Amino acid sequence: MEYRKHKSLKISEIGIGTYALSGVYGAKDLEEFKRMIYRAYELGVNFFDTAEAYGNAEQILGDIVKPFREDIYIATKVGIRGDIKPNLSKDYIKKACEESLKRLQTDYIDLYQVHFHDPTTPIEETVEALEDLVEEGKIKHYGVGHLPLDVTEEYCKLGKPFSVLTEFSAVTRESYEKLLPLYKKYNLGIIAFSTTGRGLLTGRFKEGQKFEPADIRYLDPLFQRERFQYGLRIAKKFAELGEKYGKTPVQVAIAWVLAHEGIICALTGPSTVKHLEENVEASGWEIPKEDLRELDEFFKREDEWLRQKQKESIKQILIQPLQEPQRAFVDLIYVIETALSLSIIEEKEILSIFYELYGLRKKLDKEEVSEKLRDIQAELRKVIPLDAL
Ligand SMILES: NC(=O)c1ccc[n+]([C@@H]2O[C@H](COP(=O)([O-])OP(=O)(O)OC[C@H]3O[C@@H](n4cnc5c(N)ncnc54)[C@H](OP(=O)(O)O)[C@@H]3O)[C@@H](O)[C@H]2O)c1
Repeated sequence: MEYRKHKSLKISEIGIGTYALSGVYGAKDLEEFKRMIYRAYELGVNFFDTAEAYGNAEQILGDIVKPFREDIYIATKVGIRGDIKPNLSKDYIKKACEESLKRLQTDYIDLYQVHFHDPTTPIEETVEALEDLVEEGKIKHYGVGHLPLDVTEEYCKLGKPFSVLTEFSAVTRESYEKLLPLYKKYNLGIIAFSTTGRGLLTGRFKEGQKFEPADIRYLDPLFQRERFQYGLRIAKKFAELGEKYGKTPVQVAIAWVLAHEGIICALTGPSTVKHLEENVEASGWEIPKEDLRELDEFFKREDEWLRQKQKESIKQILIQPLQEPQRAFVDLIYVIETALSLSIIEEKEILSIFYELYGLRKKLDKEEVSEKLRDIQAELRKVIPLDAL
C-alpha cells in the first residue's frame, strides 16, 4: 500500500468506507464485512470512513478496529441521522460527537466531516463547534462533505478544514473539476468517494440491469437512462485498458482517480474480502500518461453525447405526463441531479424542491402522491429554463 501525506496525516491512498452497512447497496453479510475490514488493515489500509448516518456502521467499525485503533485513522461525519433535514447547530454537533465517540468506542476522531449543508445554521456557528471539539481533543481535524461549492469556500474562509469529500470516478467528474481552484487556494486534501462508480466501473453490470427499490442504485441518476449507457461504455473502455496491463477494470478505475492532483485518498466500499483485495491492488500502479491522455479524449467525445441526451431527457420528463409514482419519482430525481450537474441551475435554487421530493420516497404507494409529484414537476418547470435546453 502506498501512502499520501497531507498536513500531519500519512494516509493510505486507498481508504475503506462503510456506507454499505446502511443497506444502500442491498443486504450484506456482516461477518464477511468484518473479515473485510480486518483484511484491509492487514493489507495496510489505515483510513476508514463512516458516518452517524450509516445505520449502525460506527458501532460495527468501532468493534472491529478496537484492537488496532491507534494504528489507523477514523473519519466520520456529522449533521444527519435518521431525518432528511441536516442539523449543524452547535448543540447538535456537540451531542452528536459524544454519541459517535461512544459508538466508535474511542476517545478521539481523526477526521470529523460535515456531511450535508444545513442552510438554517450560520456556518460561523458550525465552525465554532468544530474548533471547540479540536481544542477539547475530541477530534483531531475537521473536514467538509459534498456541500455546494460556495458553502465549501465559506468554510475555508471561516475555518481551517483539513479536507473535502467529493464523489469522483471516471463516471462522475464534475464536482472534482469544480473543486480544483478551492483545493489549490486553501490547501484542502481531496478525499474521493464512490471511486468504482458504486460498482458500475467493475464491469459487473449489463444493459437492462434491475435494482431492488431499497438499493440506492434504483434511483441513482448514474444508473438511469443515457447516464447508465455512458457508464457502461466507460467501464468497457477501462476493461480494454486493463487487459493491456494485466489489471481488472476496477483497478483501472481506482488508479485513474489516484492519478489526479490533490487526491489524498480514494475511498471504495467493498463488502467482501475478494472485492477488497482486488481494489487494494490498484495502489502503486500508475496508468501511463499516454493512456490518460487518450482517456481524456474519449471522455470528451462521450461527454458531448451525454450532455445532448440529458437535455432531451430533462425536457421530456418535465413536459410529458408522469409515469406511475415509482418511475415518476426516479425521473424527477434524475431531472434535479442532471440539471445541477449540467450547471443549468444552482443547488440553493432547487434544494427545497429536492427535500420536498425526497420526502415522498417512502410514501410512493399512497393515493395522494401522484398529485404531489405533478406539483413538483410543475415547480421544476418554473425553475429550470426549458428554452435554454
Ligand atoms: N456513496 C456516497 O454517497 C458517499 C458519500 C460520502 C462518503 N462516502 C464514503 O465513501 C465510501 C466509498 O463509496 P462507495 O461505497 O459508494 O464506493 P464504491 O466502491 O464506488 O461502491 C460500492 C459498491 O461497489 C461494489 N464494488 C466495490 N468493489 C468491487 C469489486 N472489486 N468488484 C465488484 N463490485 C465491487 C460494492 O459491491 P460489494 O458490496 O458486492 O463489494 C458496492 O456495491 C463509502 O462507503 C462511504 O464511507 C460515500
